[in-house]
Amino acid sequence: MDEIKIGVIGSGYWGPNLIRNFVEIPAADVVAVADLDPDRLTFISNRYPKIKVTQDYRELFKMGLDAIVIATPPASHYQIAMDCLGQGLHVMVEKPLTLSSQTAQELVDYAKEMDLTLMVGHTFEYNPAVRALKDLITTGELGTVYYIDGVRANLGLFQRDLNVLWDLATHDISILLYILGMEPLTVSAQGTACVLDNIHDIAYLHMTFPQNILAHFRISWLDPCKVRRITVVGSKKMAVYDDVESLEKIRIYDKGVEVPPYTSTYEEFKLSYRYGDVVIPHLSHMEPLRIECNHFLDSITNKIQPISNGESGLRVVKVLEAADRSLANYGNQEILIDTRADLNAEISV
Ligand SMILES: NC(=O)c1ccc[n+]([C@@H]2O[C@H](COP(=O)([O-])OP(=O)(O)OC[C@H]3O[C@@H](n4cnc5c(N)ncnc54)[C@H](O)[C@@H]3O)[C@@H](O)[C@H]2O)c1
Repeated sequence: MDEIKIGVIGSGYWGPNLIRNFVEIPAADVVAVADLDPDRLTFISNRYPKIKVTQDYRELFKMGLDAIVIATPPASHYQIAMDCLGQGLHVMVEKPLTLSSQTAQELVDYAKEMDLTLMVGHTFEYNPAVRALKDLITTGELGTVYYIDGVRANLGLFQRDLNVLWDLATHDISILLYILGMEPLTVSAQGTACVLDNIHDIAYLHMTFPQNILAHFRISWLDPCKVRRITVVGSKKMAVYDDVESLEKIRIYDKGVEVPPYTSTYEEFKLSYRYGDVVIPHLSHMEPLRIECNHFLDSITNKIQPISNGESGLRVVKVLEAADRSLANYGNQEILIDTRADLNAEISV
């Protein structure tokens, strides 16, 4: 295939990042951008005079495109993605895929039926630091994973129609499912709506995974500090991923605690603590969004399933839905996979 002809729908805050990346990739040709807001189209025209602009995304269907990238608010993802797939176009849609597992499943099924690529913008799955974290787990360098703790907090940007979980925790859930290669067995969430009625701006998300792995995240739009940190504690080593750090995003701590094999008396019982070196691995500086955009093009050209394909988007939406149900039920635990049914919870990513 020659250059892949792309249309972008939505050029608000995030869309221009996608447009910039595809413009800079030789294998792509950004033909047109659609946005309801004429001011956003003027902004794009001033920056990229050759790109056609329109307020009606259906105009893009007459331009001989191969693929569409959707960066509109989540409530519009389902309908726009359905329309694009219906026109025989490959689709990359921003996170979250949709706002319900039913509509996410419909998109997955329709893309399959039409034999088209459906990819979700789980940007962190293309982040070299997150990939390094996944390697540390899958190669066994951390040992048995005991628990994962995370914080994603800052002041704003509040959404009017979505709570903080659907906005920010989408990233953490996609990271967790990706690095562990598993889906959670249970999900619970507690939170509060401090600023806007009924829109939770702070939430504590708790998940259990197979192999007794616990994950706990604090997600907030109402915090004085910007924190983007995930700690993975294993039986051999511990790793901290700090996305706010510009260069040293991953630190691997050779720290741990061991129980002596045998002690006959209480006095002899002493845990042995290991305080070893801290290693900061070198990571690629490539922009994660560039890797993601390249991967979308590769997936189309080579007819391969993207890492963050429709199923991956659906899995994340199912967790978010369960978290919402739990939020409404005072933190009640939602069972996603019933282990009594002996289901295999492992996924391949
Ligand atoms: N991957 C990431 O790290 C990341 C970061 C930020 C936002 N996002 C996602 O990107 C998407 C957009 O977020 P944003 O912050 O840019 O929102 P935004 O509100 O700033 O921009 C959305 C744009 O879409 C336009 N729009 C809405 N409906 C439209 C329609 N029917 N046709 C054409 N244009 C339409 C709006 O006019 C607006 O300009 C969301 O899904 C969000 O979750 C992803």
